[in-house]
Amino acid sequence: MAETVHPPFVTYASMLSLLALCPHFVILLWYTMVHEDGSVAQSWDLLKKNGLHGLINIWPRPTAIAWKILFCYGAFEAALQLLLPGQTVQGPVSPTGNRPVYKANGVAAYVVTIATYIGLWWFGIFNPAIVYDHLGDIFSALIYGSFIFCVLLYIKGHVAPSSSDSGSCGNLIIDFYWGMELYPRIGKNFDIKVFTNCRFGMMSWAVLAVTYCIKQYELNGRVSDSMLVNTTLMLVYVTKFFWWEAGYWNTMDIAHDRAGFYICWGCLVWVPSVYTSPGMYLVNHPVELGTQLAIYILVAGVICIYINYDCDRQRQEFRRTNGKCSVWGKAPSKIVASYTTSSGETKTSLLLTSGWWGLARHFHYVPEILSSFFWTVPALFHNFLPYFYVIFLTILLFDRAKRDDDRCRSKYGKYWKLYCERVRYRVIPGFY
Ligand SMILES: NC(=O)c1ccc[n+]([C@@H]2O[C@H](COP(=O)([O-])OP(=O)(O)OC[C@H]3O[C@@H](n4cnc5c(N)ncnc54)[C@H](OP(=O)(O)O)[C@@H]3O)[C@@H](O)[C@H]2O)c1
Repeated sequence: MAETVHPPFVTYASMLSLLALCPHFVILLWYTMVHEDGSVAQSWDLLKKNGLHGLINIWPRPTAIAWKILFCYGAFEAALQLLLPGQTVQGPVSPTGNRPVYKANGVAAYVVTIATYIGLWWFGIFNPAIVYDHLGDIFSALIYGSFIFCVLLYIKGHVAPSSSDSGSCGNLIIDFYWGMELYPRIGKNFDIKVFTNCRFGMMSWAVLAVTYCIKQYELNGRVSDSMLVNTTLMLVYVTKFFWWEAGYWNTMDIAHDRAGFYICWGCLVWVPSVYTSPGMYLVNHPVELGTQLAIYILVAGVICIYINYDCDRQRQEFRRTNGKCSVWGKAPSKIVASYTTSSGETKTSLLLTSGWWGLARHFHYVPEILSSFFWTVPALFHNFLPYFYVIFLTILLFDRAKRDDDRCRSKYGKYWKLYCERVRYRVIPGFY
């Protein structure tokens, strides 16, 4: 039996229910936002009246235009990933001792994508409002297409793994859900997780934020201040992401989670649909906040995004310089932790115990959750649904904190215990 972090029953039940429910949820969320005024009660009534048939009836078919939009977008992003110049950077040492090499051209890809998208609209070549009008068919196509993509990843993991950081745990469901390969590639240079997570998933967040803004403008001839705050904060967040993209390649998503349904389907479908949903709601709910309130929310959101960025930057700078950096104006306090790789080699890592990382374990999740609250709150409190992402993110990060804590405890043993004694506070008291 494969080893699991949670009890096996919980693990299998949660994997199977997520596999079965997430696609339906994406469609229901889109339908409620766009056709039911964002009201869960209205959608619930519809389902109560029509049952399963109601759900089948609202499922949009993946149309030719949806496939065309997705193909053009995916091919454009893949071409930018391969062709744009960028510095060569190394990822962290993997459990089997490999060190992946990347081309850091994320900022260039981001600037080219947004400039091209706005340019297409400005010069009347392609109207982003079309994307909003076909959002249901696009999500439907993404759901099916990404599922097939994950099956192909699973097969590739069995027949043509890209590196020794791969393998089966002996259970088909876990292999499919959590993935087979840590660093799958096509050829030597095309990194599949950089494509799914960064260039398709995170990029779609910015592209859709712009789309919602333009759609509201096309509908009303103006953009409300709530939409402006939401779009600006989401764009600041995604800009921060691409600015720090090489750092992202050191985080759990890339360095620890294998390429399977959880991370790849999540980035290909869940990010464009659920992460962007507060903007999707605002398109036909143009709340006017007034300049003063809008500025307060904007400033609070930017501060949270900055703190989250600074937490990640601090850890990465600390690791990059081998602890020879300054943290909040002082030499960092640290633990030198040794661990054994799966090939039996002994290595050392540094654990930072000052700065943001000395305040509490996983402190960086607090500003992450608050940022999402600030780009949602312009929708005010007429409906609960725009806040779904904030709630989902909180649950995701609680679970992630537990998974990470368990992983670090088994990796570093007594050094992690020492770390927990030095940094006593947790962002989720009593949870892990
Ligand atoms: N919006 C979203 O959906 C979402 C989801 C997840 C994360 N995020 C964001 O992505 C960013 C990265 O988060 P993450 O969850 O991937 O975690 P992370 O920043 O990669 O941090 C966890 C890793 O850092 C290392 N570490 C732990 N404690 C340390 C310490 N005291 N000093 C130095 N290294 C330490 C450990 O890796 P080693 O094995 O290298 O020691 C641990 O696995 C955060 O800003 C987070 O908010 C966003």
